[in-house]
Amino acid sequence: MKICIRDARIFLPEGSLYQGDLLIENGTISQIDRRVDSPHLDEVIEANGQVLLPGVIDPQVHFREPGKEHKEDLQTGSHACARGGVTSFLEMPNTDPLTISQATLDDKLARAASKCVVNYGFFIGATASNLAALQAIRGACGIKIFMGSMQGDLLVGDPAILETIFAHTSQLIAVHAESQARILERRALWVGQSDVALHSQIQDDQAALQATQLALRLSIQYRHRLHILHLSTALEVDCLAQQKPAWVTAEVTPQHLLLSTEDYAKLGSLAQMNPPLRDPQDCQRLWEGLHTGVIDMIATDHAPHTLTEKALPYPQSPSGMPGVETALPLMLTAMQAGRCTLPQVVRWMCEAPARGYGIRQKGKIQVGWDADLVLVNLEESRPVVREELLTKCGWSPFEGWLLTGWPSLTLVGGQIAFQSGRINLATRGQALQFHPADFPYI
Ligand code: DOR
Repeated sequence: MKICIRDARIFLPEGSLYQGDLLIENGTISQIDRRVDSPHLDEVIEANGQVLLPGVIDPQVHFREPGKEHKEDLQTGSHACARGGVTSFLEMPNTDPLTISQATLDDKLARAASKCVVNYGFFIGATASNLAALQAIRGACGIKIFMGSMQGDLLVGDPAILETIFAHTSQLIAVHAESQARILERRALWVGQSDVALHSQIQDDQAALQATQLALRLSIQYRHRLHILHLSTALEVDCLAQQKPAWVTAEVTPQHLLLSTEDYAKLGSLAQMNPPLRDPQDCQRLWEGLHTGVIDMIATDHAPHTLTEKALPYPQSPSGMPGVETALPLMLTAMQAGRCTLPQVVRWMCEAPARGYGIRQKGKIQVGWDADLVLVNLEESRPVVREELLTKCGWSPFEGWLLTGWPSLTLVGGQIAFQSGRINLATRGQALQFHPADFPYI
């Protein structure tokens, strides 16, 4: 199978845009040239000067399958990914049943193989009692620990248990860093009140800082690869700016960069997530964290809930918002507004997740690498429209935002996953392979 993308502005690894053609053979990029003259092309895609980027790797999503498929499932989540230019995702273990064993992980991998149009990887969740499973797990992208903001078995707030996991496992540990003890203390201060804006005060910046500090300390003590999920506060950026060992990475979400506590007035509980939105000064510091390299990558934390669920009064309203469809256009719009450059967007959304998780042959456009690609139209602006969304939850906190850089084509392993507004239902992604030893600190 030979596909040629003609007349694209191709983003090359050194950061330049190269105007020319790109040839794909059997799912792999085989040639990048001013003009590809190959006699037997199965398909030619005219890019008409649009920009060709590596597919986005989203290192944190919640796709709800199995167990909560009324919010999302692996198929609809993957469709939303393809529309947003996300060609690979890493999915979280808070499904039902929880992904806390080899069997539950294998079940997700089998489900994804049968229905995902993009590539996939899954975390195993830590509990207080599954150390043996964490040690023996095969095929996971890492161990997810909810230090706070979780109920049931996935909540691991006890520092002694956390320490055991850091001491006795070897896989990457990704932490949701919020201190459950502090959250509980502060929840009691506002009990009975239903203003959703209180969410940011109850789960405040100290709750995030304390947990991040603890995870960092354990990671240093045991020299354990640590990834800090969705950094949200200036305090955490300052903390990591002072001390960030080579084996620690961090991510931020577009919503923590672009929305703030000021948005509760308009969005109500649609703006409720964990960790919560912060003040505009925090947003500014998160941008600085990205620019200085304190924050390595961008994740969406796509966490869909239905509008009916979201309409419950706080604190019954669930936390989380969808994001895979809007992340790339949001960042490309921020780029056009002068907040960052195209090489930075590609580094944060493609290269850094591939590097951080040891995913080979992805995150760059290079001969011999996988043809996970997204063509974006930087000449056209279109609003985020509820009716066009493919996420099953059917809403976005960014509805009405005029964005530039929507994908017109998404290719996964050389297969068309999304083109001209439509999903190719026949496309299938692959299970990502993780090579943690590739991460250069070891
Ligand atoms: O806001 C959030 N929602 N944060 C999380 O960590 C979990 C997520 C969910 O699964 O709904």
